[in-house]
Amino acid sequence: MSIPDAFHDRQEARRAPRRILGIETSCDETSVAVLDGNGTVRANLIASQIERHRPFGGVVPEIASREHLRHLMPLVDEAVAGASLGLDDLDAVAVTAGPGLIGALLVGVAAAQGLAWGLGVPLYPVNHLEGHIVSAYLNREGTATSLPARFLSLVVSGGHSSIYDVRAAEPAPIRVVNRTRDDAAGEIFDKVAKFLGFPYPGGPHVEETARGGDPGAIPFPLARFKDGSLDFSFSGLKASAIREARRLGLEGAVGNAEKKAALADLCAAFQASIVGQLVDRLSSVWGSVGREAEPPTEVTIAGGVAANGVLREAVTEWGAERGVTVRLPEKVFCTDNAAMIALAALCLGAPADDTARIPARSRMVPGTRET
Ligand code: KG4
Ligand code: ZN
Repeated sequence: MSIPDAFHDRQEARRAPRRILGIETSCDETSVAVLDGNGTVRANLIASQIERHRPFGGVVPEIASREHLRHLMPLVDEAVAGASLGLDDLDAVAVTAGPGLIGALLVGVAAAQGLAWGLGVPLYPVNHLEGHIVSAYLNREGTATSLPARFLSLVVSGGHSSIYDVRAAEPAPIRVVNRTRDDAAGEIFDKVAKFLGFPYPGGPHVEETARGGDPGAIPFPLARFKDGSLDFSFSGLKASAIREARRLGLEGAVGNAEKKAALADLCAAFQASIVGQLVDRLSSVWGSVGREAEPPTEVTIAGGVAANGVLREAVTEWGAERGVTVRLPEKVFCTDNAAMIALAALCLGAPADDTARIPARSRMVPGTRET
């Protein structure tokens, strides 16, 4: 490609990319996606490192960086070929710039910088949480669903639990409505699961085990703040669940046939309590923003915990009772993936002024445009 052509293409792509490459390396999944400008997912590959981290019971940052280094560029080639394209067909690159593990982010950002620079196309630094926020609008087949003018998004993952108020067309599109004051929802799923003897990540195992249990078996209290704050708090529930598990002799009880029923009850009650708090806060937030002018018209849930069937059912039921449209991401788009990063670039993003200067940031608030 000649330099004038590349320059012309870059100006075009600044307006609206037709083919965008997404890269996600913020935690323990290496993911690369190719999307059309209308959000059609042409490829979305995910190399999970879970098996490498499992012996340590959680993500080891140094292992994550090394695994991303090994997998990223082969995955880029595979994704582009899988989309029946060549690298020259891309006219933008999007990459997670934060928040996440700094060493893991650096691998993705450096690769994206090199690719964007070499191809002469713009680079979109994306906040990982903005990826989760738009993930419910991705479809496995066909174009992405258009974002409404205003919606609420409940993002619940291993590192975050927050409700965001999103006005996609505005210059500062995202307001953080609440956050967790201590642990994230996914984090307590994983910590309590570990105590019970499940492998990492524990959330899906708790869900599966809970199917045979009674959610009313243990009445865990609903955390509320005296000051009326709508923030989440999960550390008290984590402590109560571990205390109950110890009292019932369930430490490391996975696989113990005698403890099967008690384990199922504990998992069901613990899961119901997490879901109860999430829906309680969602209701309160919806109640307060619903009185504003031009209120949100939809609710989405997102992040790894949004794959949880009990949460999906509870939020769907909550929406049906109030006539609110609830959008659930397809399960493949709940956990970390690059398709959501590319879509966030298309819907909410702006290209960096200088491809060479994109800092990776371990902490980053959604809605800020700092690069
Ligand atoms: O979004 P994600 O892939 O990574 C982060 O950005 O953190 O979320 C991973 C989290 C883990 O804590 C995992 O246990 C949880 O999502 N998770 C679940 C389920 N699937 C994944 N938690 C409850 N039920 C599930 N089915
Ligand atoms: Zn995530």
